[in-house]
Amino acid sequence: MLHIDATAHVRGESTYVDDVPAPAGMLYAAIFGSPVAHGSVASLNVEDALAAEGVAAVITAKDIPGENQIGPIIPDEPLLADGAVHYRGQPLAVVLAKSVALARKGAALITVSIDPLPVITDPRKAYENGEIIGAPRTVACGDVEAAFERCDVVVSGSCDMGGQEHVYLETQRSRAVPQEPGRLKIYSSTQSPYAGQRMIARILGIPHNHIEIDVLRLGGAFGGKEDQATQWACVAALSAWVTGQAVEVVLSREEDMRMTGKRHPYLSDFKIGATHDGKILAYQVEHYQNSGAGADLSTAVLERTLLHSTGSYHIPNARIFGVCCRTNLPPNTAFRGFGGPQGMFVIECAITALAEKMNLPVAQLQRRNLLDKSDPFPYGQLMGNDHAIRAWDDAVASYDFAAIHERIDHFNADHFATKKGAALMPVCFGISFTTTYMNQASALLHVYTDGSVGLSTGGVEMGQGLSTNMVLLAARALGIDTGKVRIESTNTTRIANMSPSAASSTTLLNGNAVVLAADQILVRLRTVAAELLSESRADRITIADGEVLNGGKPAGLTWEALVQHAYQSRVGLSAHAFYATPDVHYDKQTEQGEPFAYHACGTAMVEVTLDCVRGTYTVDSVKMVHDLGRPLSESVDLGQIEGGLAQGLGWMSLEDLQYGEDGTLLSGALATYKLPDAHFMPDDIQVKFLEQTDGPIGPYGSKAVGEPPLMYGIALFFALRQAMRAFRPTAEFPFTAPLTPERVLTALYAGDDPGELPRK
Ligand code: MTE
Ligand code: HPA
Ligand code: MOS
Repeated sequence: MLHIDATAHVRGESTYVDDVPAPAGMLYAAIFGSPVAHGSVASLNVEDALAAEGVAAVITAKDIPGENQIGPIIPDEPLLADGAVHYRGQPLAVVLAKSVALARKGAALITVSIDPLPVITDPRKAYENGEIIGAPRTVACGDVEAAFERCDVVVSGSCDMGGQEHVYLETQRSRAVPQEPGRLKIYSSTQSPYAGQRMIARILGIPHNHIEIDVLRLGGAFGGKEDQATQWACVAALSAWVTGQAVEVVLSREEDMRMTGKRHPYLSDFKIGATHDGKILAYQVEHYQNSGAGADLSTAVLERTLLHSTGSYHIPNARIFGVCCRTNLPPNTAFRGFGGPQGMFVIECAITALAEKMNLPVAQLQRRNLLDKSDPFPYGQLMGNDHAIRAWDDAVASYDFAAIHERIDHFNADHFATKKGAALMPVCFGISFTTTYMNQASALLHVYTDGSVGLSTGGVEMGQGLSTNMVLLAARALGIDTGKVRIESTNTTRIANMSPSAASSTTLLNGNAVVLAADQILVRLRTVAAELLSESRADRITIADGEVLNGGKPAGLTWEALVQHAYQSRVGLSAHAFYATPDVHYDKQTEQGEPFAYHACGTAMVEVTLDCVRGTYTVDSVKMVHDLGRPLSESVDLGQIEGGLAQGLGWMSLEDLQYGEDGTLLSGALATYKLPDAHFMPDDIQVKFLEQTDGPIGPYGSKAVGEPPLMYGIALFFALRQAMRAFRPTAEFPFTAPLTPERVLTALYAGDDPGELPRK
């Protein structure tokens, strides 16, 4: 089945928040954000804005009737700054006017006087100053000190990873529409409708059941709307509450880039040791996460970093330390991979440093230490299968990597100023929310009397193909054509208390709930059919392709006729079902447990050609073997693989967030923040699915696919490094990402002595 929205998307007919016709008198919001990154607010003057043409109201912290607090985990984030500002762009006031243009003009008239305070953008400096969020955490196994003693080779180093801007096509937006007194309906572009509902209730001081959030679909989110859509929903709701009119908040691209959080940059130090034959015995890492000015989801992101710090490898002695460091940047947030990519990048750097020191091929060390079935992760969970090894071996054999390496060596010997490089990246990504209680979902299924089906779940369609998967699952479970099933918007009045659509787990959680709901209906319909067909055993009745079967043979009864009979027999045709992932658990005190339902695995090779005069490069190919389980829709999953890969490649290479010392985002526009595009992506992308790997709990054997492929992009960094080393074999290159052409060029010609540079 194709992505259910494919046709409407291409024709421009899919609707989003601001395609919904505007209610009469709707006001438009402009956000006035702090012009400085840190300070205490001496005065805020909104009089001129209030008097401006078309301006209906200006909202500040004083207008908040409830609690001025939207921190999702730790209450450290006001909706509107009050007294102090902690990052540039932090919302101080909201101007409401008859048009967006007038609201912006009004906002330009606001003045603020702020007594500046020192600005910190470096996480290590924040840590030294004691500016941390939550408590530092350490996951450990074995005896690291003793193991280092036993190592033949030990290396240490540091990594500097950049963040990443989400660049969802649809920027943050929300529309609040007052209903009967005391009630609000909000259309929001959010991954987490319930978080919006919960926080609006807190801001307004009203019960959850007075607020309805409706989400049709998102024009992309990538984690950027897991938590950070909430504040804009709150701004819209508060504004509508105060004015009694409908209000729409839409951030411009520039505002969105400047005001919202991104993937967390990390500074990390590592030490790794192995025996002569390449068995890694010990690993030690310290992660300094640049959390930004508020906690947001940072502590959960750090947790996933800790749990992915040994990547796809079995390391018997490890000590993994991580800390969230408070800086004066917008609070950083979820981004596809959720801290996993950072943990996995560092271990790859460590293994690469080790291989360089030992003069061994990196791939040899990687393969030697891959997780096998009975190997534990440092947090105690067992790998449980041989998919990491199988995917690696399958990739190496299927794509004949030995031949590729040989071809590259020949090429490099024949060329002076152009070098090729290739690297392999094994991925092993834990599936489930690490916050155990979040692994729950519900579905609501209605069968109408004409046999058509309406389906609601707590999952949000953000482009990833959730709706397609949900329709497929309902149709398959009921035994009817997908054309009979309509997926409804995600709405808090139909599904309560939903978790965000995140952690790659939306199909797993909501899909299982859909199947359970369909099963309830089926049990009832089978009884009706058995009666109609004078069959004493209802368990002999099945439905396939819209026909009722008795003992596997057509019974001359259609789905539609059966549904009619059920209705007239007064049998309920609606079902609500709840699903919770069984057995997952984690103890934050001991840092041990089984937080994941399973791990999604695979291996990819990235090949590059580097122009050593210019520092520019081309990604030639990506070849992977990925463990998809039994896909519900191969084309949807392939879309996720290619999209995730593109974002991973971009994170490692082009996408360079630069901040000034005063906390200004210097790359705050798409002219200065370079994204991977169709030209950048390799023409040659080959994806092979690992055979016989049915998902253990995914509906119909399917597996999560949303995030894992992003981490294949990490191979690009190391492929480039290979090419750079082919040009300058003895140079020391830093582990600084992204490896932009500028950084490549600088590294290739670093050093004071021109005599050291390569000569033809
Ligand atoms: N794909 C598209 N097209 N748009 C998105 O916003 N978000 C990613 C991934 N793929 C995203 C996407 C992220 S961060 C996650 S966690 C998963 O989709 C969420 O959806 P899933 O749980 O259904 O995989
Ligand atoms: N992934 C995404 N979001 C989350 C997670 C996670 O593991 N834990 C809490 N929120
Ligand atoms: Mo995805 S980062 O879990 O929204």
